[in-house]
Amino acid sequence: MGILEVSNLHLTINGTRILNDVTLDFWEGHVHAVVGPNGAGKSTLAAAIMGLEGYRDVEGDIRFEGQSITGLSVDQRAKKGITLAWQEPARYEGLSVAKFLGAAAADGGITAEEALEQVGLSPARYLHRAVDKSLSGGERKKLELASILVMEPRFVMLDEPDSGIDVASLHKIFEGIQSLRKQGATVVLITHSITVMKQAEHAFLFCGGRLIDKGRTPSILPYFEGECLPCDHQNVPTRGGDEHGHE
Ligand SMILES: Nc1ncnc2c1ncn2[C@@H]1O[C@H](COP(=O)(O)OP(=O)(O)OP(=O)(O)O)[C@@H](O)[C@H]1O
Ligand SMILES: [Mg+2]
Repeated sequence: MGILEVSNLHLTINGTRILNDVTLDFWEGHVHAVVGPNGAGKSTLAAAIMGLEGYRDVEGDIRFEGQSITGLSVDQRAKKGITLAWQEPARYEGLSVAKFLGAAAADGGITAEEALEQVGLSPARYLHRAVDKSLSGGERKKLELASILVMEPRFVMLDEPDSGIDVASLHKIFEGIQSLRKQGATVVLITHSITVMKQAEHAFLFCGGRLIDKGRTPSILPYFEGECLPCDHQNVPTRGGDEHGHE
């Protein structure tokens, strides 16, 4: 049984159906990838699982450890150990990095220093910096991952964990993902990147708000080679790669 199960999930926003009959489950302690072209509904799925404002009015069910969470607030879901990495840790604007990580820390978890080392930010250089626009986009992204590492969540969704990350730092992000897994977290990577997708054992391919295919990562990889699986999406990729994020 999956730790988090989505059943026949529909989400309509302003009269437009964004998620259409999505059924899938995420396996405890495994790393999963959610892939698909721009506008496929990947981030919306994460928002619906997290219960963000505007994404809570779903049909169907989302169950965490066997219990429906669709009636719970974001905070209640967070207390259960569900988390979503936003690109910008805006809610903590102005705090020091040390306080920001301290606020996220779980009892008995890894320290702020260890988490910073893990993502490749030197504690000596960063602990006293403010969490604000003076941090670069990549530094914020790494800090966000560090905050998740100290949090020790049960279920973590990382939306485009490589965005803004330079090639040399990417392995640090991957190490962070593997650390989460070693902590026992169930991980969901939302990505356009074949390199990120290869960090996952299982993959789910979305298109036009629907789950098109799922399976072990190698069986879904041909998507990145332009061999999009049958669906009625208007912008199906052509063979040989195109503008839809193919590498
Ligand atoms: N609050 C909203 N109001 C209206 N439309 C929305 C809203 N949120 C999402 N959508 C639409 O839902 C569709 C799916 O968006 P979503 O952000 O989930 O795509 P995605 O798969 O994450 O794409 P990308 O790869 O570009 O990040 C898009 O067409 C988007 O415009
Ligand atoms: Mg998205």
